Amino acid sequence: SEVPVLTIDGPSGSGKGTISRMVARRLGWHYLDSGALYRAVGVAAAWGDLDLGDAGALVRCTFDTAIDFREDASGELRVLVNGNDATDELRTETAGAVASAIAAMPEVRTALMDRQRAFRQPPGLVTDGRDMGTVIFPDAPFKVFLTASAGERAERRYKQLKDKGVSVTLDGLLREILARDARDANRAVAPLRPAGDAVHIDTTGIGIDEVVERVLNVVGA
Ligand code: C5P
Repeated sequence: SEVPVLTIDGPSGSGKGTISRMVARRLGWHYLDSGALYRAVGVAAAWGDLDLGDAGALVRCTFDTAIDFREDASGELRVLVNGNDATDELRTETAGAVASAIAAMPEVRTALMDRQRAFRQPPGLVTDGRDMGTVIFPDAPFKVFLTASAGERAERRYKQLKDKGVSVTLDGLLREILARDARDANRAVAPLRPAGDAVHIDTTGIGIDEVVERVLNVVGA
């Protein structure tokens, strides 16, 4: 495809989501949050009371679940699962853990492939996830791998959740982040790893605006 893609992969809490949305806006490109697709399938499976060990049922659920992204009046991205606004439910640690569990199943990953590639539309696509640069868009002309120390990622998440009034401990979050990192990095299919041609950016101690500028530099914008 001639349509340019910028892939931004990295572990949870590296700032991928925030950075990707800001960069997409600056470039005027489309944006795909691939993690939201895994989270949405997990939430739909939970709504349907599906057995998370049943790959066949999960694949059917993946094909049957309508997932739509929509910007609300304040410019916030909302995710509709089968027509219901599931944005808040998708952000919970439980939804993240379920997503990470079903994302380890090759059948589920394959079932989501075409759906992700369909977001590649003119004038361009910014997408974030774990395997955007390695598996889904290996031919992307622009690839970034974002990292940050686990401590800093836990702190960012802690602040986000506290602002939302969710009660969590920094310690508990750090443990969850490390567990999810290990699962995402060690799974057999599409493990979290940088593409050979990705530009690495460590965001520890760097402000969001500075990271956005560095990513825009990769695209030459
Ligand atoms: O990025 P986010 O935290 O929303 O992703 C939730 C989970 O979905 C991750 O922990 C990961 O297991 C899975 N995922 C994935 N591949 C992607 C995006 C997310 O396996 N491209």
